[in-house]
Amino acid sequence: MKDSLISTRNNLEAAVYSRVLKPAFFRQDPELVHDNISNIGEMLGRTGFGRGVTRAAFGYRHPMLEQTILGIRFDNPIGLSAGFDKNARLVDFIPAVGFGFTEIGSVTGEACEGNPKPRLWRLPKSQSLVVNYGLMNDGAEAVAKRLQGRNFAIPVGISVAKTNSETTVDEAAGVADYVKAYRATSGVGAYATINISCPNTFGGQPFTNPSRLENLLSAIDRQEHTKPVFIKFSPDLSDIELDHLLEVAFAHNIEGFICSNLTKPRDNPHILDADVPPSGGMSGKVQQEMSDEQIRRVYARVGRTHVVMGCGGVFTAEDAYRKIRLGASLIQLITGMIYQGPQTISTINLGLVKLLKRDGFSRLSEAVGADSK
Ligand SMILES: Cc1cc2nc3c(=O)[nH]c(=O)nc-3n(C[C@H](O)[C@H](O)[C@H](O)COP(=O)(O)O)c2cc1C
Repeated sequence: MKDSLISTRNNLEAAVYSRVLKPAFFRQDPELVHDNISNIGEMLGRTGFGRGVTRAAFGYRHPMLEQTILGIRFDNPIGLSAGFDKNARLVDFIPAVGFGFTEIGSVTGEACEGNPKPRLWRLPKSQSLVVNYGLMNDGAEAVAKRLQGRNFAIPVGISVAKTNSETTVDEAAGVADYVKAYRATSGVGAYATINISCPNTFGGQPFTNPSRLENLLSAIDRQEHTKPVFIKFSPDLSDIELDHLLEVAFAHNIEGFICSNLTKPRDNPHILDADVPPSGGMSGKVQQEMSDEQIRRVYARVGRTHVVMGCGGVFTAEDAYRKIRLGASLIQLITGMIYQGPQTISTINLGLVKLLKRDGFSRLSEAVGADSK
């Protein structure tokens, strides 16, 4: 389909989403909406007809957006971030929505029910979500079994974390749990992410301490290195903390970094809503600037030796392009899609092509880091 037709299609879909669907969804409990949408997505993903209809509604391809990174081919740079498809139910549906890749999880050594409900809230004025799921998931082994032996239309990353339980607060037990999740999923997917930045679990974020991260990554190094490994950082790290963690990572088999996870501090000037639940991490516009700054800082240290993925507050092509020019080769999102609808992915990709052409780039990879200092 021509770009002008895709643009008209997306504008119509955006209008229906903002006038009809979003008001209906936003009147309901966010977790319930997410569960219902996931059920529909899983059903549509099961049949060629369902996938075809979804692709006709949301798909878009352009050769300027294609990249091969760490030997993995990406049709476009926009991925679904970890947390939306925790248990790998949507791997057949997500490509049809137009995503260039997806990240499953986070999955943990043991299955986990997560924190008590309610555990997901909207901050509509701030265009943000407050997330306190506490790593609810079916467990790494069950999720790996679901994915085993299957072919995927797009690269699938697997995010691993440690089980949210008192039993993994002890450092050695925490490392063992990460290793269990990592080993269970080592045979599936295109890349792995070590999530050291979940804000909502027992014992906090112990592996943001350099010596503990050293122990964790040494244990991961002792496992078979079947695919590229990323580390996902918290945006709440200070510059010095981030530098120390990068130093540790450079000594291990780490191919890239994801900037960033959810943010916790409630004194963030981008919070525009009066009532913010006391627990949980925040996404979207509240986190956007912090993610941009972290990309800038990480790219300044790693250049092209490691891959940077940008994640946080991507709503428009301009948001994605800014992160790319700061150093991100790939982009992940959730919140932009929830606030604007599923056509957001192809709208961003379409807009990226325009921005690349405007600035005289012939392909996306040329723009990566163009604004780094
Ligand atoms: C509902 C929800 C669940 C999430 N769960 C996870 C998770 O399990 N693991 C993880 O690494 N990040 C998780 N995140 C964080 C996202 O992957 C992402 O880093 C963050 O939301 C910022 O991106 P966004 O502004 O585009 O949403 C979650 C986010 C949301 C909104």
